[in-house]
Amino acid sequence: MPRPEIITLQGRNQSLVWEVVDGGAPLWRYWGPRLGDRAEVPAHGKRTSPSFSLDEDVPLSIFPTFGVGWYGQTALLAHRAGTDFAQSVTRCAWERDGQTIRFILTDDVAHIEARLSFALDPASDVLTLSTSLTNTGDAPLEVHWLAAATLPLPADAASVLSYSGRHSAEFQEQVEPLGSSLWRRENRYGITSHADFPGALVLMPGSTDHGGTVYGAQLAWSGNSAQTIDTPDEGLRLWQLGAWLAPGEIILAPGETLETPQLLATCSTTGRDGIARNFHASIRTRATWPGGKMRPRPVILNTWEGFYFNHDLSALKELADAAAAVGIERFVLDDGWFSGRDDDTKALGDWWPDHQKFRDGLGPLIDHVTSKGMEFGLWVEPEMVNPDSDLFRAHPDWALRIAGRPLLTARNQLVLDMTNREVSDHIFASLDALLRAHQIAYLKWDHNRYLTTAGRPDGRACYQAQVHAVYALIDRLRAEHSQVEIESCAGGGGRIDAGILSRTHRVWVSDNIDPLSRLPMHDSYLQFFPPEMMGAHVGATPSHCTGSSQHIDFRAAVALPGHF
Ligand code: GLA
Repeated sequence: MPRPEIITLQGRNQSLVWEVVDGGAPLWRYWGPRLGDRAEVPAHGKRTSPSFSLDEDVPLSIFPTFGVGWYGQTALLAHRAGTDFAQSVTRCAWERDGQTIRFILTDDVAHIEARLSFALDPASDVLTLSTSLTNTGDAPLEVHWLAAATLPLPADAASVLSYSGRHSAEFQEQVEPLGSSLWRRENRYGITSHADFPGALVLMPGSTDHGGTVYGAQLAWSGNSAQTIDTPDEGLRLWQLGAWLAPGEIILAPGETLETPQLLATCSTTGRDGIARNFHASIRTRATWPGGKMRPRPVILNTWEGFYFNHDLSALKELADAAAAVGIERFVLDDGWFSGRDDDTKALGDWWPDHQKFRDGLGPLIDHVTSKGMEFGLWVEPEMVNPDSDLFRAHPDWALRIAGRPLLTARNQLVLDMTNREVSDHIFASLDALLRAHQIAYLKWDHNRYLTTAGRPDGRACYQAQVHAVYALIDRLRAEHSQVEIESCAGGGGRIDAGILSRTHRVWVSDNIDPLSRLPMHDSYLQFFPPEMMGAHVGATPSHCTGSSQHIDFRAAVALPGHF
């Protein structure tokens, strides 16, 4: 019997092994701590069929599919007007390019092609995984689920550490034992959310912060997501992460391709710290800095808790003087500066300076700030509109909505349909005009509500398309204004993920600046993202959020290790 073809990818501390099989998807043989160079992972071979199972064995492949013998979670759920509900790979090709392996899987019966990419970065020891699916048939293919990747985990993986939370209480760690039932988390909030961070750690028995084997994965994606850990009847567990899709959201026309978000995954034999080190290194390589390189992080002052919406030019100038005197390097004017914005009930969308507060526009304040040697930063919330705004009055049809259903506001605001080119062009033009007119070095880019009723005029859901449209808008703005840095904020930490952090430079972890509340949030954040991107401030005392008072030394000590 010919020896089966084995493919191996060796990282610094981890190895991946696959077995190529005739007329099917390659089998997962191993992912875990690095194997010795001469170590042999046995081929799957022919195992005896357990009782009450198919006569032809269906082991775990890199692309398990529904309906042709695999009973566990699948990498794909799709159909063609009810037909082609089952898929199975009939041909496989693969190629290696250094530390990247690409598999091209074809199903000649259901007429689909899947391309799976496994790229291992030797420096960070982080895998970047993704899947693309092409409809090669001649009728539309509706896709319900497409995993970014399917990863095998040892059967004795003991527990899973994931994150829940809400506004002002982000990144709350929760550890759950892995049993024999399906573990599943879904985020349907439309953005990354405070509640369901798209990543987790899987802990092997006995692992700690500093030792033992731990697996980590996070989706580079700022929208709906799902992750599952399944324990099929196979002597292993399998872990999948991907974008959660609304009904009918993805219908691929003949020839069309769906790309999943990228999944970052890594394995450590030095406990949770090893995972954090690898992810920090990986996020740093994905970051795109003005000038190509991060410069020392400027110390920021933000006006929000000092002024809220009550912007007064002379008081702001006084604050700028005091800021410069203590060494602040970037002065950020938060919400309240634009036309009619006196509270949170109105004006989102009207992105020009309020004439009552800034009679001669933002110029005098910006000149004052920059004359003190500080950079100027400005708060914006580009994807939003208040019904009470000139923008909404002129274009009520620009908000995401479902015909026949009420417009559902949150914080009195609606979400603009960024997938409509007219809308994104308008928002681009508003931001572009501000950046052209002024010396603005920094945008705090906010998003203060979740998505729902995310329908387009044709009645179809557009949650995923909205995220891609926002990414495209940020990319377009950065291409035009390459010196501008951006902070990602969504009611504090509602949009913190590896997708947004490949195009922004800092995240606002939480509106809660009480250091006692912040400590566990920082701990969890640092599991996935590096400290220099972690927005942390010395807040007022008593804390505006919790009412409790902390000594200035403690407030500073908690903020300093991040981007203070
Ligand atoms: C959100 C942000 C705050 C502040 C306000 C302004 O809540 O998280 O930091 O910018 O919006 O309205």
